[in-house]
Amino acid sequence: MPQKVQRVKGVNDILPQEAKQWQALEHVVKQVMDRFAFGEIRPPIFEKTELFARGVGEDTDIVSKEMYSFSDMSKSSLTLRPELTAGVVRSYIQNNLQQISPVQKLWYEGPMFRQERPQKGRYRQFWQFGAEAIGSPNPEQDAEMIALFYAILKELGVEKSVTLKINSVGDSESRANYRSSLQEYLRPQLSSLSETSQRRFESNPLRILDSKAPNDIELVQDAPKIRECLNEVSATHYAEVLKMLEVMEIPYVQDDLLVRGLDYYTHTIFEFTSDALGAQDAICGGGRYNDLVKDLGGQDVPAIGWASGIERLLLVVEALQPLMAESGLDLFLVVQGEELRVKAPKLINDWRKAGLNCDMDTLRRSMKAQMREANRQKARYVAILGEEEYDQGVVQLKNFSTGDQEVVLFEKVVDIIDEKL
Ligand code: HAM
Repeated sequence: MPQKVQRVKGVNDILPQEAKQWQALEHVVKQVMDRFAFGEIRPPIFEKTELFARGVGEDTDIVSKEMYSFSDMSKSSLTLRPELTAGVVRSYIQNNLQQISPVQKLWYEGPMFRQERPQKGRYRQFWQFGAEAIGSPNPEQDAEMIALFYAILKELGVEKSVTLKINSVGDSESRANYRSSLQEYLRPQLSSLSETSQRRFESNPLRILDSKAPNDIELVQDAPKIRECLNEVSATHYAEVLKMLEVMEIPYVQDDLLVRGLDYYTHTIFEFTSDALGAQDAICGGGRYNDLVKDLGGQDVPAIGWASGIERLLLVVEALQPLMAESGLDLFLVVQGEELRVKAPKLINDWRKAGLNCDMDTLRRSMKAQMREANRQKARYVAILGEEEYDQGVVQLKNFSTGDQEVVLFEKVVDIIDEKL
């Protein structure tokens, strides 16, 4: 027997029943994006490796150890996108989107790829939907971005079981101030920090706040807070964002230890987390990235965005309030009699052309088996067709939920079902 080929570790098959939930979620996302006037963008799945190295940051976990990179025939190094912010910014610059309007509000959905250690809620191919607003430096743009994700949570009915954690990493001057005071605080304890944190002490000390090593966690509890090191511009921006959230009645908690694993952030950063998940509790993360467009060769244009992991968000939604996964099948055609095998496909095709979702058996099974199949597919109606019916141009139309059955002319089937749906 030939050996079966197995799925790659850390990736998922989304099967039809589950895909219905995905579609229900996607429907909500698209509707809310429209309400907030965001346009969809679909950048490519792979980009030049350099984009992520420069965009996300050489020193991040993503770039240093998690990327799926390969070289193509021309020996260029390419990478399956680990996230989409860098790709969206690349596209924004390359397509001169700032010429269309000074603020571009874009959203996307698609698979991302990171070679992380797989566990519940953490996969090597996972899906994100996300949004980026490029062009406005003002706090109302931060507030709108957060309100956008909150509106999606509300629409899904899960906003109460999710926590918005927020912090500010300020502008570069504020970060430089903070970096020195954090280093000053940690220097006497340097040798007791974990190996990774010791490495980050010079390259990126803020990430030490995010360390999972027990001793590091204890040490950073009393570390100086970045909030206290913000210069006036950064502190004012942050205070205004918080004020706007309050006015919009979006609850938040300030988390002084919140830092993000990507290097491009400035000012506001945030995550939405849920207790319904285990260790991988972030269902959405994002923040401002005022320097990225410039760093990737564009003009000096500020931006802010976020992305949400669909698998994780669905775990939360399913735990609380399963999305309606209704059968989409209006009608199942049950055929009785050899002669009709040739004629039935035309009949069902006509109903499909008229817009009904229909199915029929192609295994030549017994009538009983066909009824079972109609039931399994939760068809709303069954049309039973025997030779006698065919000669009279009718079917026995049975409403599966009420059990009512009536004789209906072929050409009336669509009207009757439409009327009752
Ligand atoms: P991120 O925090 O790396 O940010 O990812 C955003 C979300 O994607 C996470 O909160 C999580 O829900 C989901 N996610 C990340 N990694 C995995 C994984 N291995 N398996 C399953 N889900 C995962 C970004 O990607 C930024 N581009 C967000 C952003 C947009 N910032 C500004 N604009």
